[in-house]
Amino acid sequence: MLNKTAIVTGSTGGIGKAICQSFHDEGINVIGVSHAPDETTAWKNYACDLADVNTLENNFNKICEAHGATANILINNAGVYHAKAWTDLSVLEFEQAMSVNTTAPFILIRAWANKLIEQKQSGVCVNVSSVSAHLGSVDVSYAASKAGVNLVTKTMAKALATHDIRVNGIAPGPIKTKMADRIPLDRQEKYKENIPMQRFGDVKEIASLVRFLTNDQSSFITGETINIDGGLS
Ligand SMILES: NC(=O)c1ccc[n+]([C@@H]2O[C@H](COP(=O)([O-])OP(=O)(O)OC[C@H]3O[C@@H](n4cnc5c(N)ncnc54)[C@H](OP(=O)(O)O)[C@@H]3O)[C@@H](O)[C@H]2O)c1
Repeated sequence: MLNKTAIVTGSTGGIGKAICQSFHDEGINVIGVSHAPDETTAWKNYACDLADVNTLENNFNKICEAHGATANILINNAGVYHAKAWTDLSVLEFEQAMSVNTTAPFILIRAWANKLIEQKQSGVCVNVSSVSAHLGSVDVSYAASKAGVNLVTKTMAKALATHDIRVNGIAPGPIKTKMADRIPLDRQEKYKENIPMQRFGDVKEIASLVRFLTNDQSSFITGETINIDGGLS
């Protein structure tokens, strides 16, 4: 086992599970965080509602304490996509997307970085954004919240660089998970026609970019959000 620990949010979802599995396969200790606990994996998953931004820092600190080890890697992967046009989207839904997709990553980076700085340790964070941040989306709350997290990435990267803490993002195009399944079938086919590589991405392709951004091969990259979209954007 490497002396590394990674916290991954949205660990029960398609992309989150693949990221956890790839860390686990490399001997990295994994702490999963998601809505519901999952007892079926080789790593521990903790239940935590990321939309509850008032209790999030406290709950996150409790999870870290329960686990013991300080995490050198933080992956803000959990995300909400309402798949609704502006005419049908409620303010509550808009706020929920902002909480999970933008505010929660900020709260977790702050809590995590404070611990690393206190212990004089280095760290790497990857925020999972979306091409919707620059291309837009049917769901305005999704596009706006993903654009927000890109600026959380850039700003926190600059603030934490002298502490040897890197913060990057990835912006996937459509990836085969239950989130992409919520796009109506006819729109999925249309989407594929617009992707130069003519297909949706696979969760393993996302996990491998996350591994690159969390290991020393990317040691001079910080503040970037990298598209991974088969040429879409
Ligand atoms: N799939 C795509 O096409 C695509 C494209 C671009 C970007 N992304 C981004 O990739 C990330 C992962 O998406 P995915 O495709 O793997 O989706 P997914 O399979 O739906 O997984 C989403 C994960 O986030 C968790 N989550 C959502 N709201 C939460 C909350 N309030 N508290 C705690 N956990 C919460 C979900 O838990 P529950 O299932 O229990 O709610 C689930 O584990 C998201 O940030 C998404 O925006 C996906």
